[in-house]
Amino acid sequence: MGTSSNKKNIVIFASGSGSNAQRLLEQFEHHPHIQVVALFSNNPEAFALQRAQKFGVPTAVFDRPMLREGKVLELLLPYKPDLIVLAGFLWLLPASFVQAFPDKIINIHPSLLPKFGGKGMHGQHVHQAVIDAKEAETGITIHYVNEHYDEGAPIYQERCPVEPNDTCETLSARVLTLEHRHLPRVVEELLLSEKNSSKTPAA
Ligand code: GAR
Repeated sequence: MGTSSNKKNIVIFASGSGSNAQRLLEQFEHHPHIQVVALFSNNPEAFALQRAQKFGVPTAVFDRPMLREGKVLELLLPYKPDLIVLAGFLWLLPASFVQAFPDKIINIHPSLLPKFGGKGMHGQHVHQAVIDAKEAETGITIHYVNEHYDEGAPIYQERCPVEPNDTCETLSARVLTLEHRHLPRVVEELLLSEKNSSKTPAA
């Protein structure tokens, strides 16, 4: 298990469908400098697991005790992650886990944080809250992860309008399109930037 190449390693955490995971798997399948080395999920039924397996990417499933007791950390370390991407991952990570990967865990959230973030604010709940609040615009936020829901430093935001007749479905489709367009690019830029380029280049 693990990886010995000189590429930057991404580990994806996903809880559900995994359409963002799919975009990352596609983007980095034949990338010269970056690879997805594993997909971890808290949900054995997550379709994201099947998506990763189709790309030959190893998967791992864990439960709350495994996360709390450091077992997930143990399973993760052999993959030497340069970046952990929470792509539709719905659990809060314990402080000990976050502290093990300073500035190496990012999350994508389907609103313009700090609006419509926090516990219970995920997926359709976010879009319904945006519609209920009669917001004129919404969007996506890609941000670093700390030990609180949706509170880490922002990396990138992109906006889109909320149309008068929007339903949860139409709005979530518009926002998801933004996620798919920007997440792979932001991940690539982060990994290729100087800040993260600590690995010895290939000889
Ligand atoms: C995405 O919209 C993502 O932003 C959201 O869950 C969806 C997962 O879709 N994440 C959150 O709400 C986190 N608070 P996907 O499984 O198809 O990528």
